[in-house]
Amino acid sequence: MQLIVKPDYDTMSWAAAKIVVNIIRANTKTKLGLATGSSPQGLYGQLVEYYYERALSFSRVETFNLDEYIGLPHGHPLSYRYFMETNLFKKVNIDIGKTNFPDVYNADLSEACSNYSRMLKENVRDVQILGLGVNGHIGFNEPGTGIDTKTHVVELQKSTILANSRFFNSIEEVPKTAITMGIAEILEAEKILLLVDKKTKHDALIKLLAEGGFDSECPVTALQKHKNLTVICTREAFDGN
Ligand code: GLP
Repeated sequence: MQLIVKPDYDTMSWAAAKIVVNIIRANTKTKLGLATGSSPQGLYGQLVEYYYERALSFSRVETFNLDEYIGLPHGHPLSYRYFMETNLFKKVNIDIGKTNFPDVYNADLSEACSNYSRMLKENVRDVQILGLGVNGHIGFNEPGTGIDTKTHVVELQKSTILANSRFFNSIEEVPKTAITMGIAEILEAEKILLLVDKKTKHDALIKLLAEGGFDSECPVTALQKHKNLTVICTREAFDGN
């Protein structure tokens, strides 16, 4: 595991962007595993900057997002696809047909999960970008999730609904279920890049860094098993104050 502690959010995002840019430049075709949320937002902003400066092309990039809410209509501004479109996809030269999410609009959700699992199996991600939930979740793999899980439907925990309600008008509007890539699939990426920027994530971060083995009550600890993990965190997240 490689740990990089940066003074603040911007320097964390710049460091992450450099890694992702180098991966995109080194591959003729790049498969990116993407996360939503505030943690990678600055990284996406940096990737857009690189693109504007004509220093980076997304024409040969394909993406696979971690998760999506169930129950929001197509194009809803709080859906994860909308987040990705406004923060990255619509600002760069990516082929929108090559941006993939679990199909939460399929009437048969178990079929949607197995379709996404199959797609992930056929498309090993060069790098998986991850944020971290306060309760240690990665994607929407909540505490209690096994290390062997594949794409599945999840019931979001109260703490996650509460944390994510900051984006909605009221807590009642936050979807209670989602489809997420499983932990086993997250671990299949060639490289994992975890971004942690808030002191509220300190406890989960320390559990990961302690390398005490996998604890299903703190799903991020599964990343200890990965051979190429880079953790970039802010001083605040590292110190917890
Ligand atoms: C959500 C997402 C996760 C994300 C987490 C942290 O629950 N499903 O993928 O990592 O929130 O979000 P943030 O980066 O906004 O703190």
